[in-house]
Amino acid sequence: MKLVHDAPALAAALAEQDGRRAVVMTMGALHDGHLSLVTHARQRADHVVVTVFVNPLQFGAHEDLDQYPRDLPGDLAALAPVLHTDDVVYAPSVREMYPDGPPQVQVAAGPVGDVLEGAVRPGHFDGVLTVVLKLLARTRPDVAVFGAKDAQQVALVRAMVHDLDLGVSVVEAPTVREHDGLARSSRNAYLSPDDRERATGLWRALSAGREAAEAGADAPEVVVAARTVLTEAVDAVDYVSLVDARFLPLAAGAHGPARLVVAARLGTTRLIDNTELVLGPVVDRSR
Ligand code: PAF
Repeated sequence: MKLVHDAPALAAALAEQDGRRAVVMTMGALHDGHLSLVTHARQRADHVVVTVFVNPLQFGAHEDLDQYPRDLPGDLAALAPVLHTDDVVYAPSVREMYPDGPPQVQVAAGPVGDVLEGAVRPGHFDGVLTVVLKLLARTRPDVAVFGAKDAQQVALVRAMVHDLDLGVSVVEAPTVREHDGLARSSRNAYLSPDDRERATGLWRALSAGREAAEAGADAPEVVVAARTVLTEAVDAVDYVSLVDARFLPLAAGAHGPARLVVAARLGTTRLIDNTELVLGPVVDRSR
């Protein structure tokens, strides 16, 4: 793999690649979930670019920007077995990405940027989309792979790519889970042993919601089933909600594919997760 830190070195490394290119954008602290994104990228392209950048624009004033884990040598060691010689790791500094400070022109995520994660983290998705747009411009990929755990982020990246005609294919790769269902996340490292145990409540809540849907529950009943399990497990529930593919809330009588999304706090750690399910009348296959 080639490690580059600035735009000219990145452009030179990309010039040596031919064929299709896929990008995996990360904030480092890489785990199996990120490595699986690289595997999905590899299946869709000849070359992979992994970006490692903790983006200050997407952190609120009281969030964990300073504490966010940074370990580039560890990230490179994790990537070594899955990257090829002419794949690229782009790890810019804040100054390299934002030489004049926060950019004057930034992407506005629109109404979906203000709900759920966006309601709890105002401005977060504007910051995410701004850096994603800059990284797309610098890496010029055919495909960009994002993890399904951050499903609202994927929906907004898709909306940006569609609305601004960016001409890149956005792929949502499935969430990688621990043996007990907890979604892999860099923030899991913050959990105390007790909080780690209780964090399984997110996946148990999603499973309860999905089982309720499979048994014919309507949207409000699915939300109640999930919320009941989650409330018992965690310190605070930020939200339990059913949304459509664009992340707009579903009406009470909605039928068809939906996504159940949850966010909760354990101690000082905030975790999110989601699952897809289908709302609708139970089909009696015995007849
Ligand atoms: O999902 C993340 O890690 C970040 O939001 C991303 C896409 C790398 C942008 O900073």
